[in-house]
Amino acid sequence: MSNLSILSGKTYFIRTFGCQMNLHDSERVSGLLDSCGCLVASSPADADIVIFMTCCVREAADTRLYGQCSSCKSLPASPSGKRVIAVGGCIAQRDGEGLLTNLDNVDVIFGTHSIAHVAELLADAFADGDHHVRVEEIDTGAATDMPWHRETAYHAWVPIMTGCNNFCSYCIVPYVRGREKSRPMDEIVDEVTGLVRQGVRSITLLGQNVNSYGRDHDHDPRFAELLRRVGDTGIERIYFTSSHPKDLLPETIDAMAEVPAVMPQLHLAVQSGSSRILKLMNRKYTREQYLDLVQRVRDRIPNIALTTDIIVGFPGETEEDFEQTVSLVDEAKFAQAFTFIYSKREGTPAAKIVDPTPRAVIQERFDRLVKHVEQTAFDFNQGSLDTTVPMLIEGTSKKDPNVLQGKSPWNQTVHCPVPAGVDPVTLIGKVIDVHVDTARTWYLAGASVGDAR
Ligand code: SAM
Ligand code: SF4
Ligand code: F3S
Repeated sequence: MSNLSILSGKTYFIRTFGCQMNLHDSERVSGLLDSCGCLVASSPADADIVIFMTCCVREAADTRLYGQCSSCKSLPASPSGKRVIAVGGCIAQRDGEGLLTNLDNVDVIFGTHSIAHVAELLADAFADGDHHVRVEEIDTGAATDMPWHRETAYHAWVPIMTGCNNFCSYCIVPYVRGREKSRPMDEIVDEVTGLVRQGVRSITLLGQNVNSYGRDHDHDPRFAELLRRVGDTGIERIYFTSSHPKDLLPETIDAMAEVPAVMPQLHLAVQSGSSRILKLMNRKYTREQYLDLVQRVRDRIPNIALTTDIIVGFPGETEEDFEQTVSLVDEAKFAQAFTFIYSKREGTPAAKIVDPTPRAVIQERFDRLVKHVEQTAFDFNQGSLDTTVPMLIEGTSKKDPNVLQGKSPWNQTVHCPVPAGVDPVTLIGKVIDVHVDTARTWYLAGASVGDAR
């Protein structure tokens, strides 16, 4: 039986890589450590416990872990005199104990479904100085009823499901996060109701494919119903990510249009504009079906900020396929797009496809695509010129402490000067109207109108 009291007073630092799933898992790890009396450290050097929450979706994320772990070797002694290094997240789930072969200074390894045990593992490592590894099978249900330490008081990530059933041919996620498992709807609604009581104003519902929420319980997806019920809790802003185009139902588009708290923003990953490549990717929709869906969404929510993910250089992608992606970007007019160069992931079907395309060609295509995305993002933001947008204040700009930074309902970054005589810290989590006079590719700027509320 682990003696958790050994953790009391220890300082911890968590570095998180990857997607919002990991961000939220990190919040749960923090919550557990807080409940054991641990204290947050401002850097690895000040920490008795350093935790890396890892991602393996692309090779770059994978290799970063090795550098980060070895840099811990040159840190000064920790405050308590003993430092424990832990690796969690998707690489831990994939490689388990095998990580110890290359990472000789790691003490604790815990998988994506073992977060509830992290405190015991760390306590044991402090007590006996041995390695402690716990990687549950991915199809054991991940615990959800854990304490949880939120990074901000005004926004919360709310996982509604874990895992993914889609097996896109390039993607490692289903192998490290398991199959889709939806949380009970009442549990989610109760959680959001509690968040509203605590003063949270904005939430993001999380899942690899939120559109299939509930399918594992009730056969039919119930995401539209969930949106309506969450919309009744009094929460002011609802975002969700990610949406798979093959599962976005008309009833969900209706709920998005009709529930006032659902923000006019939709992340709808397209991945490629070529139907041939989409088939090889196992995405289960064509270019035409995607564009038709975009049109149907715009018919109901004309000003929607549509965002997407795109992969360049999927094995065998030709110049013609790539041009189809570029033209789709121009046609869909994305407000933002996350663009990635294809990264071979061992164990996925696409890893077996041999690709003769030189890296320099893929890089040149990637750079070309980014220019188109920047143009559509710029065009989208130009549409906000001379309008007044309610900005949810997140803090001040990193570049200028006299400038407030926040988010518009369309999830655009917005800047405005800190109102005279006001401490900006007191404004965090409040909403202020900003009259937009500048619209660039990455942000809007203007002057505040009226008081924060
Ligand atoms: N479930 C989400 C969806 O389908 O919209 C995506 C989750 S994944 C964590 C985020 C993005 O990473 C994907 O949409 C895809 O564009 C990208 N990605 C996944 N596997 C990749 C790979 N092997 N190489 C490059 N990008 C990849
Ligand atoms: Fe990966 Fe596809 Fe699942 Fe998204 S939907 S997590 S891209 S397998
Ligand atoms: Fe990465 Fe795991 Fe998310 S592989 S993208 S952290 S689900």
